[in-house]
Amino acid sequence: MYVADLALSPKVLERLDFGAPAAERDIARGLEHYFVESPAFNRVQSGAKTIVLGSRGSGKSAIFQVLAKRARDAGARVIELTPDDYSYELLSSTMAAENAGSWAKHGAYAAAWKYLLYVMIMKEAGRKGMRLGRGGGAEVHRYLRDNHSQVGMGRLALLVSYLKRLENVKLGPIEAGARTRELDRLYQLEEIHSLLPALHRVLDDVRIVVLVDELDRGWDSSEDAQAFISGLFQACVSVNSLHPNLRVYVSLRQELYDDIPALYEDAQKYRDLVETVHWTAEALLELIAKRIRHSARELGYDSESLARVSDMSCWNAVFGRVPGQPVSASFTYVVERTLHRPREIIEFCTAALEAARDRKPTMPLPLAAISWAEHGYSADRAKDIAAEFRFQYPGLLSVFDAFRGGDCRYDRDALEYACLELATGEVRVDHGAQWWLESYDPDRLIEVLWHVGFMTARVNGGPFVGPHQVPYLNLAGVKQFQIHPMFWNYLGTITRETR
Ligand SMILES: Nc1ncnc2c1ncn2[C@@H]1O[C@H](COP(=O)(O)OP(=O)(O)OP(=O)(O)O)[C@@H](O)[C@H]1O
Ligand SMILES: [Mg+2]
Repeated sequence: MYVADLALSPKVLERLDFGAPAAERDIARGLEHYFVESPAFNRVQSGAKTIVLGSRGSGKSAIFQVLAKRARDAGARVIELTPDDYSYELLSSTMAAENAGSWAKHGAYAAAWKYLLYVMIMKEAGRKGMRLGRGGGAEVHRYLRDNHSQVGMGRLALLVSYLKRLENVKLGPIEAGARTRELDRLYQLEEIHSLLPALHRVLDDVRIVVLVDELDRGWDSSEDAQAFISGLFQACVSVNSLHPNLRVYVSLRQELYDDIPALYEDAQKYRDLVETVHWTAEALLELIAKRIRHSARELGYDSESLARVSDMSCWNAVFGRVPGQPVSASFTYVVERTLHRPREIIEFCTAALEAARDRKPTMPLPLAAISWAEHGYSADRAKDIAAEFRFQYPGLLSVFDAFRGGDCRYDRDALEYACLELATGEVRVDHGAQWWLESYDPDRLIEVLWHVGFMTARVNGGPFVGPHQVPYLNLAGVKQFQIHPMFWNYLGTITRETR
């Protein structure tokens, strides 16, 4: 039961902090203390789900950061693979192309990943205090000493070395029968296979968590990049079956997942392991309120009193109420200008806070602070979204720009007409966008604009919704569309109230 409104002294303004926009840095600012623990997080933490999908900034790394922290606190060993451990460019330039002998790259990458994961896991288990003798540690130790004692061999190098072994057998001058035998040996991971019972015994005593995050950094959509990720998915499923004390987690951006045919064609293999990160407006309010309470606590406000204040009161203590409107008005304004991703709301709120500090430092912030921040926020988001989809839809920003200065609302005919103008080149767009637009009929382009979050759709007189609110919608039946409010300020959209 919430009892009171919260009033924060203007002194809070100086120290109020909504955190860093990326979880890797946010963890040092207090993420663990203001983490929103969703049922999705619990399913991942329990190990029931090991593949985390989500949009940019939706909180994939946050889940992994908190998971790692808690696992370490509970005595587990945690291995984190970061972008420093993979380079798609290097893979493409090192490995022969698929058509240079059809060497079934996906399978080769899966084997190489299993090899890398097992070696990393054995090294971690053996780092210190591994039980020797009966536990299986001695065998593992001997293998590592004899095969992996060279210092400075990076993780990617280890993976590539295994791929190279496969490539050499596949493409090298070897007699056919010997080739099959040798390949079988490599695919079966013969070098490691006999050690798995020993590793299993080691794992009876130690928990190991492997986290593979930020796989999209440097993504170039190449054959090798795709095989790298689909191979990792396969390896992950196989390694996770060794022991309940061993869990390998992978996170991936939804768009990337959709961009890898080998993954979605095999979707049913992974479906029960996938957790998709979603946020509602209420959960985002909770996320910001937790950060406000955390800042207030740090400044000496009493924890128990803060716990008795509702999330909306926390919000209003900072952003204020709009006179004559519901208490939620300023929050609704902000959240409607997001695609329901935590990073967006953190950035918008931080920009408003900084604008107020510079211009009119009061608490609650002046209502205008939100509009001071909106222009930069809206422009950044338009550019970020276009960048996110640069592989599927190059030049997307210039497609957004084609709607500049127009109305925010479109009935179906008007939108189809606008799309037709884009496809026929009547409206100028970037060169990169021209080639794909040419082959897109209006219905298909409307699908794209909806899918990337640019257009929202109204069904049966309800509110306008986007894919962050309803993942599946039959757009063919939709008669009314609206540009998402996040883009209005950037585009100078005309927003006559026509509701
Ligand atoms: N459950 C949560 N509780 C509190 N804060 C969260 C939560 N999820 C995400 N955040 C915060 O939202 C911001 C974005 O999250 P994060 O960096 O995890 O996104 P991401 O999905 O990894 O994005 P990217 O695709 O760019 O790597 C960070 O500041 C993070 O701390
Ligand atoms: Mg991340």
